[in-house]
Amino acid sequence: MRRANPQVDDLLLDIPQGDGPIYRRLSQSVRQALRQGRLRRGERLPSTRRLAQQLGVHRHTVMPSLDELVAEGWLESQPGWGYRVVDGATLTRLVVTHGCQEAIYLLAQLLLRPGDQVAVEELGFPNAWQALRCCGAELVPVDIDEHGLVPDSLERALASGRVKLLYLTPLHQYPTTVTLNRTRRQAVYRLCARHHVPILEDDYDFELHYRCMSVPPMKADDPEARVLYCSTFSKVLHPSARLGFAIVPAPVARLMRELKRVVSRQNDSLVQEAVAGWMAEGGFERHLRRMRRLYEERREVMLECLEGVPQAPRFRLPDGGMCLWVELGLDPVRVAEEALKLGVDVRPGPYYALDRTGRRGWDGFRLGFSYHRPDEIREGMSRFWQACAKVAR
Ligand SMILES: Cc1ncc(COP(=O)(O)O)c(C=O)c1O
Repeated sequence: MRRANPQVDDLLLDIPQGDGPIYRRLSQSVRQALRQGRLRRGERLPSTRRLAQQLGVHRHTVMPSLDELVAEGWLESQPGWGYRVVDGATLTRLVVTHGCQEAIYLLAQLLLRPGDQVAVEELGFPNAWQALRCCGAELVPVDIDEHGLVPDSLERALASGRVKLLYLTPLHQYPTTVTLNRTRRQAVYRLCARHHVPILEDDYDFELHYRCMSVPPMKADDPEARVLYCSTFSKVLHPSARLGFAIVPAPVARLMRELKRVVSRQNDSLVQEAVAGWMAEGGFERHLRRMRRLYEERREVMLECLEGVPQAPRFRLPDGGMCLWVELGLDPVRVAEEALKLGVDVRPGPYYALDRTGRRGWDGFRLGFSYHRPDEIREGMSRFWQACAKVAR
């Protein structure tokens, strides 16, 4: 029989002052308790009900906070036992990589053989596709709609019996930014369980949510250990930091490290040390708060630029992320060409399709708002509309 781990009875947590959502501030407080050694490896946390009572918040505020820490690899959730701090053995499931890209590449090399199939969302993320194809795997498109990946379409793809992996961007579908809802997540999980297919969850912009909580990763509710998780600091720090990580079963983690030693020898420990120090003194949390505020303002500016224009753009406001997916009913390849002549570089929808013919995503654009200042966004969008007007003529 499995023995219960020691439980911490008097975990003194508080919710630090600040303007982020309460659950995030609570996560911060738990991280601090871990760093200060008030919570140790293997220890079980008080129940979420008890923590909620102690902190004077709702249980539904405590749960996402702990789920976030599960996804980050600090805690693990055990059905029936609640949450506990990962022990040494669990830490062996974490592999630091040169961004998500390397994690995807290494996992593809380890898990796939030539002729295997990988189910991918279409539209999707071409950089990941290239990594998945490197080992000779064949990509099988799964439809997406306004709610993200369509489970029926996944079921059809899995029927071949050759699919060995599902690559998925559930938080903000790439490129359309849609968040996969709970019902669909469960349907996807059940289907993959039935067909014994692991899910590679790419959680590339988890920190970037505005005004509401981030939906916890699928990894946070993974009773069968079916989800291989990767995330990155590319969006919250800089892509050139090349700092990402994967959380995978320990034997896979060991193989990933071995292969990684061959491919890139070792990680940049200087960057890791710097980021760890920055986190420990609270600078990283402050940076995230500043970024969220800044990006939310920029998103507002982008929204203003979409109002009242003759092209009547169709779009949904995503809960987070750095982009809007905007459909215009115009030939996007021509619009992109005209925009480029005016100094604006936008990727047309078909770029995100497997065959790039324009059959899918034909009139969509992924418009980023995070990188530029408000005046640059306004100028860029004004030129973009000029390009659209030229094509519409
Ligand atoms: C879907 C997706 N995954 C992952 C990444 C980040 O990759 P990396 O961590 O290798 O920089 C990006 C960045 O563009 C992305 O859009």
